[in-house]
Amino acid sequence: MKGKILVTGGTGYIGSHTVVELQHSGYEVVIVDNLSNSRADVVDNIEKVSGIRPAFEQLDCLDYAGLDALFTKYAGIKGIIHFAASKAVGESVQKPLMYYRNNLVSLINLLELMPKHGVEGIIFSSSCTVYGQPDVLPVTEEAPIKTAESPYGNTKQINEEIVQDFVKSGAPINAILLRYFNPIGAHPTALLGELPSGVPQNLVPFLTQTAMGIREKLSVFGDDYDTPDGSCIRDYINVVDLAKAHVVAMDRIMQQKQAEKVEVFNIGTGRGLSVLELIHAFEAATGVKLNYQIVGRRAGDIEKVWANPDKANNVLGWKAEATIEDTLRSAWKWQVRLREEGIQ
Ligand code: NAD
Ligand code: WQD
Repeated sequence: MKGKILVTGGTGYIGSHTVVELQHSGYEVVIVDNLSNSRADVVDNIEKVSGIRPAFEQLDCLDYAGLDALFTKYAGIKGIIHFAASKAVGESVQKPLMYYRNNLVSLINLLELMPKHGVEGIIFSSSCTVYGQPDVLPVTEEAPIKTAESPYGNTKQINEEIVQDFVKSGAPINAILLRYFNPIGAHPTALLGELPSGVPQNLVPFLTQTAMGIREKLSVFGDDYDTPDGSCIRDYINVVDLAKAHVVAMDRIMQQKQAEKVEVFNIGTGRGLSVLELIHAFEAATGVKLNYQIVGRRAGDIEKVWANPDKANNVLGWKAEATIEDTLRSAWKWQVRLREEGIQ
């Protein structure tokens, strides 16, 4: 075994895919999740995919005493991957205090407990949202952090500063901040995927639910942007590729290969794709025609962003591999399975 890793939010979308990759790579995994945005049976599906059942504790990361006891119960945890957070941009505007409490205090609790329990390193789930609308594209890690467009985005910026300041204070820990672009798709087995509660806010789950007939049509939020076809551009990254980036990052920490005590990496493909291009790629990849219409812009949307992934490729030693077609096929296969299982 390579060591014991705590994955907070490990029954969530990205967390569950990362648990499987960690297990494949030889890590022992302990999941903590309060199931506020996921289901306990995800643990069963992780076991089906990897053949290894991870330890699972239903616990809120806001529960300091509960976390303290968890580190004692699972002695020897050497690393943490911290996914647990609230992540709905629109909801964060309506409920800012819930977002600040959940996303900031959960991280502070973990950081405070790390030295006490000999935990060497933490990987934090950050987001390209910290860049806002970059002035230069593709965007590098040196790009300026812009004023957040939402309380959610602000929690990511503040979390990054909390990690930096704690390490600067002399804390005996190392950290890697991974700034994800737009994760999409599902596990090739269709046993793991995104399970949005209620009406999906993100493009791909809304698209596959429309293709399944759950939604009547997909609204394309604007075609009057300064882009080739007028629709917004994003860097859509396969969730399994994203999960693998966490394994490479954890190896880097565990093998003490970091150049600095806190490192930041953009985790994206380096490929910008417009909304309309993604829709057409879905139709071509699956043969499923999509009912969509162009409507007005969505408030808060930035026009275009895609990663310069050179640092992750050359320093971290990770590169996105999946094609957009395979990724969209995996999203569709997952949606079909949800229907077959009567889940959605
Ligand atoms: P998700 O909601 O599927 O997973 C988050 C998990 O954390 C859920 O299982 C939820 O139940 C759990 N959780 C939330 N608050 C908790 C708490 N206080 N204690 C314990 N468990 C808690 O979201 P995701 O898409 O997998 O995102 C994972 C992380 O990646 C989040 O931090 C998110 O901000 C970040 N991120 C996501 C995206 C994206 O587009 N999905 C992009 C950039 C960054
Ligand atoms: C992608 C594109 C929409 C839905 C958000 C968060 C970000 C991160 C990822 C957590 C945009 C368009 C969407 C629809 C559409 N989450 N769209 N019709 O906004 O890039 O990023 O999720 O960290 O922080 O901001 O992702 O999937 O919502 O939108 O036209 O029904 O699809 O306008 O251009 P976004 P998204």
